Amino acid sequence: MAVRPIRIYGDPVLREKSRPVGDAAEALRLLAEDLVDTMFDAEGVGLAAPQVGEPVRMYVVNLGAIAPELFLDRRGPSLEGEPEHLVLVNPRVVKREGAQTGDEGCLSFPDLYEKVTRPEVVRVEATDLDGRPIEIEGSGLLARVLDHEYDHLEGVLFIDRLSKLRQQFIRGKLRKLKESGQAD
Ligand code: NI
Repeated sequence: MAVRPIRIYGDPVLREKSRPVGDAAEALRLLAEDLVDTMFDAEGVGLAAPQVGEPVRMYVVNLGAIAPELFLDRRGPSLEGEPEHLVLVNPRVVKREGAQTGDEGCLSFPDLYEKVTRPEVVRVEATDLDGRPIEIEGSGLLARVLDHEYDHLEGVLFIDRLSKLRQQFIRGKLRKLKESGQAD
């Protein structure tokens, strides 16, 4: 169990396309534990492996931060009961429907919150650390998190979803963040 430093915008690992996870080796379990610990320590709603410097296709979600009515469907042993968090391995987005616009942040962009448009409903299929299937479908904040964290695995960051005009408007803030990210 360990809290790891979160990589900040400007760190090249955030722009990598993550590689699929193969066998659930012990190292992956440790990485998953570290992701969960780091997410809770930072009070985040989700965290993707590249954000702790590991470009592999895995992310975690803080289920306790999400209102129960936003879960439209949930299947898989790791979603039974009232789990505090969920580890998604090799996730695939199999449905995106509708649109919602709301405030969004990212632990790799401290103190930056912007209005981002995302699908209203997102469904993800993945496996847990034991290779057992997971299916999760959510709306609102849950859809937003599932989509945002998936983007990280593709090297896509939430600022990429802003209009060019908005990106121009915040370029000074982004430059400062980038300098701090590269300095680490
Ligand atoms: Ni993020």
